Amino acid sequence: MKGRAVYIKTFGCQMNEHDTERMLGILEAKGFIEVEEPRKADIIIFNTCAIRQKAEQKFLSSLGRVKYIKKRNPQLKIIVAGCVAQLQGEKLLNKAPYIDYIIGPDNIHILESIIEDQSERIFIHENSNVVNAKIPIKRKHSVKAWVNIIYGCNNYCAYCVVPYTRGRERSRPAEDIIKEIELLSELGFKDVTLLGQNVNSYKDGDIDFPALLEKVNEIKGIERIRFVTSHPKDLSRRLIYAMKNCEKVCEHIHLPLQAGSDKILKLMNRKYTYEEYLEKIHWLRETIQNISITSDIIVGFPQEENEDFEKTLNALKEIQFDGIFAFKFSPRPGTSATRLDGHISEEIKANRLTEVLRLQDEITERKNKALEGTIQEVLIEDREGEYSTGRTRTNKIVKIASDIALGSIVDIKIVKAHRHSLEGELIQK
Ligand code: SAH
Ligand code: SF4
Ligand code: F3S
Repeated sequence: MKGRAVYIKTFGCQMNEHDTERMLGILEAKGFIEVEEPRKADIIIFNTCAIRQKAEQKFLSSLGRVKYIKKRNPQLKIIVAGCVAQLQGEKLLNKAPYIDYIIGPDNIHILESIIEDQSERIFIHENSNVVNAKIPIKRKHSVKAWVNIIYGCNNYCAYCVVPYTRGRERSRPAEDIIKEIELLSELGFKDVTLLGQNVNSYKDGDIDFPALLEKVNEIKGIERIRFVTSHPKDLSRRLIYAMKNCEKVCEHIHLPLQAGSDKILKLMNRKYTYEEYLEKIHWLRETIQNISITSDIIVGFPQEENEDFEKTLNALKEIQFDGIFAFKFSPRPGTSATRLDGHISEEIKANRLTEVLRLQDEITERKNKALEGTIQEVLIEDREGEYSTGRTRTNKIVKIASDIALGSIVDIKIVKAHRHSLEGELIQK
């Protein structure tokens, strides 16, 4: 294949976005450039997400749109990567024979040989080498970077497809993680986000997640350390102290609650009660001043009665998250929740979602308003015209009407709060 241009569309979470950076890394090393229009590409890649039906549908409609391009240009290679690829494998090829290759998340390295041509078309076998893979990465940003620390997931939450798409949990050697971050620091990166479906269960010999944070905290040049996602059941006191003691670890945690009712949490196989979750919120807030806490909520899980749903609303009122992502339960093939009795109608799910979002919007707005007049340390991540944007340590986006160098850390006075962002002014020293 002599192609030189690649179009890639990414769906889903940060793990997928980071996998896209790897695929682009491999292709760039082979001389490819990225293009914004599928028509101009020699290779089209869809890096897909299967978490909810809607994500899958979005991919399928994008796929449908490129079919005609392939008809006009039979040399074009269409590759489906990511979680839908892993789950559906051959089924996808049967449905859309114009797809050339199917590559699961464990097999990204195969892209390299696909460019030279391959007779095999489906690459979805479990690959334990994924944790050791040395794959070039074309980073999307120049100030902040994602770093994988753990792959897969063993938790089997009843609604979730990830254990089937990303395989068993495997931790990456700490030494490789540290080397990667040291290199990032040399390249001028300031902010690293450690990635995994459940970073709290990271383990490499004696090095657990708090110990890893301590090691990363030592790396000169890196100013901020973040991580996603934490499973509440594995959030330990030790981790909270490590967060407090490591000055580079930011005052933010994403801690998905999912539901406020113990009955529903149990059906979801989340392995904590609401009280246990709440206790951890208290530990966090007692130990780390001004910590920002965000969460995920699912509404309309099977057997969720009005009184269960009320408990979710009450939880939001009691906890006062800084922000949430909320979703309608979406039955996924192969997951145990799909087989439960008592599925909830679309109409009720939609109403519950609206209610949750309305309540949280009020809370988020109130919390942001409280920041007006305060001074925040902001890392500048982006510039557009005369505007610069960055984030506070608590992960809130701030827009500033000044042109500030990328990567600088500046004191910003918050002058106006919006629901999903803040406006600030540079404090001249
Ligand atoms: N590993 C992370 C993220 C998993 S996916 C974690 O454990 O938190 C991100 C979010 O998508 C989940 O937290 C959950 O709220 C939501 N989600 C997952 N499966 C879903 C489904 N079948 N229907 C609706 N929301 C879902
Ligand atoms: Fe899915 Fe649960 Fe694993 Fe998160 S912890 S990826 S929600 S199975
Ligand atoms: Fe991420 Fe979606 Fe897969 S959320 S792990 S890309 S199913």
